[in-house]
Amino acid sequence: MASIESVMQEGRRFRPPESFRARAKLKDAADYERLYRQSLDDPEGFWGAVANELHWFKPWERVLEWEEPFVKWFVGGQTNLSYNCLDLQVERGRGDKKAILWEGEPGDTRTYTYRELLAEVSKLANTLKGLGVGKGDKVAIYLPMIPQAVIAMLACARIGAVHSVVFGGFSSAALADRVNDARAKVIITADGGYRRGSVFALKPLVDEALERCESVEHVIVVRRGENDVQMQPGRDRWYHELIESASDVCPAEPMDAEDPLFILYTSGSTGKPKGVLHTTGGYQTYTYLTVKYIFDLRDDDLYWCPADVGWITGHSYIVYGPLLNGVTQLMYEGVPTHPAPDRHWEMVARYGVTIYYYAPTAIRAFMKAGEEYPKKHDLSSLRLLGTVGEPINPEAWMWYHRVIGGERCPIVDTWWQTETGGIMITTLPGVHDTKPGSAGKPFFGVDAAVMDLEGNEQEAGSGGYLVIKRPWPSMLRTVYGDDDRYRAQYWSEIPHVYFAGDGARRDDEGYFWIMGRVDDVVNVSGHRLGTAEIESALVSHPAVAEAAVVGRPDEVKGQAIVAFVTLEGKREGSEALYQELRAHVTKEIGAIARPDDIRFADALPKTRSGKIMRRLLRNIAAGEEASGDISTLEDKGVVEKLLRPGVSR
Ligand code: WT7
Repeated sequence: MASIESVMQEGRRFRPPESFRARAKLKDAADYERLYRQSLDDPEGFWGAVANELHWFKPWERVLEWEEPFVKWFVGGQTNLSYNCLDLQVERGRGDKKAILWEGEPGDTRTYTYRELLAEVSKLANTLKGLGVGKGDKVAIYLPMIPQAVIAMLACARIGAVHSVVFGGFSSAALADRVNDARAKVIITADGGYRRGSVFALKPLVDEALERCESVEHVIVVRRGENDVQMQPGRDRWYHELIESASDVCPAEPMDAEDPLFILYTSGSTGKPKGVLHTTGGYQTYTYLTVKYIFDLRDDDLYWCPADVGWITGHSYIVYGPLLNGVTQLMYEGVPTHPAPDRHWEMVARYGVTIYYYAPTAIRAFMKAGEEYPKKHDLSSLRLLGTVGEPINPEAWMWYHRVIGGERCPIVDTWWQTETGGIMITTLPGVHDTKPGSAGKPFFGVDAAVMDLEGNEQEAGSGGYLVIKRPWPSMLRTVYGDDDRYRAQYWSEIPHVYFAGDGARRDDEGYFWIMGRVDDVVNVSGHRLGTAEIESALVSHPAVAEAAVVGRPDEVKGQAIVAFVTLEGKREGSEALYQELRAHVTKEIGAIARPDDIRFADALPKTRSGKIMRRLLRNIAAGEEASGDISTLEDKGVVEKLLRPGVSR
């Protein structure tokens, strides 16, 4: 791996606004320092006290067991996430409090109180049981952003089934891979959902996927899009028909703290997506506490995270963390630009949203659309803003602060990963000054550092690899079915620490500045994609001999995908083939992985040992001079050809 240097020089800083601080749960640097110290000096005492704020059927015997790289939290304890998200909230007097205010893209609405959500979840839980789903069985969820997505996840958690949510934008092939890896017994899907003003079909993709999935016994179909679908007798059932006769009482199953809660697939530097496995007790404790302090929740807040439940953000900060805190949240089905680019701002004003948490790529897109859109609406209900998923460039941060936050709202820039389960590095909104472009400080219990590959901690200001030096409660437990890959990926690059895969530096006040991935993972609009996955999708097309995929900086998406492709035999690149390959990748993975640019080349630049020189391709894709050492390049002529204009399609 090449050396990591940071070029960002950013000196602006903002104090927590006095109006915010006055009412914040934590408001002094001393509060943070004291709790942070305690969380590291006495993790068992610290996390034990937090865990006890939720309900346990049976107390744990030991808070923490660590045998690198495998960790257990709350050993011997029994609890249930669905119980803590629902029953416990009802017991605490929130039965009539709204849990979810949902709005469909066409403008239709539904609301659920905590009591109603408990009843709906119980009905589906009973239905699943009736279909033979029990503890440890896997259920795939492939739904649009409708309330049933949340209900399905909680229904699984209630009976101890392990959910695997597959983002509704993934193709049938990607769905089939994930269903097969987890050996899912049931799929919960919908006919279709609304996106950009029309219905996109989901059920036909499930039908296609199931041609190569043997484990699936039942498909439950929510009616949403009203599009025509085929129902296969004996296999496919309508959700509304199934739950009609189900009881709305279903006692939550006591789960061991280390019983699996969910698998969520994410991209790594090799071709096959990894099934990140999260378990019960630690995950619930950590997501609960992060929401409580990072979003500084109050009982009268209206929280909105417009992400999708198909990503970890949706798992931890739409479903589990917020509900564990008894929050009222807004949930929205569609895109931010329908019917106009002010859809979100119109909704913020109409509902009175107080906390808004979304991705930098969206903020850059809003910025591009123009500030006249947010300016049309009264955004004064907002008191806290957040970002997640990728580094935010200081200009987008400043725009968010000024135009959306009215210079009155703290911004929490939260660094974390599918693997970390919850937010790891952030400022606390009532405590810390914010610095545009810096995620801030480690959250409680997070022992973060910047190291070189030998494990030496770097001095303040020097770049290196972001690592976590000890386990935290919501850490992934393994890569599903592949402990070796788990160990190799996360605990071997640098001895005895968790290797995050990001470059970072820490400044002299202990703030982390995240510099992006150091592996072959690209971040397109906050979505993480392995270049190897896109390469294998391209190579599966008969015209393609070899492919190399790299990221190129993009103003709105963060990174855009550029593919370098060599063709079979005497085929020549053309506009038609370009379109065909883009469509092929969409079919293989989904539209999020579609290359923005495909360059047809005679050959790819390789080292003498045959490795594709991605660094060089990244330079070429970005239109930069080749940087660094190219002396190992096997055939220098290849690069000259690639640099010549006209090599693109
Ligand atoms: C990768 C993880 C975290 C949920 C959504 C993405 C990047 C994430 C930040 C941030 C800079 C960030 C990292 C990380 N990332 N948040 N605040 N600042 N980079 O989860 O798909 O697992 O991706 O997203 O590169 O490794 P994910």
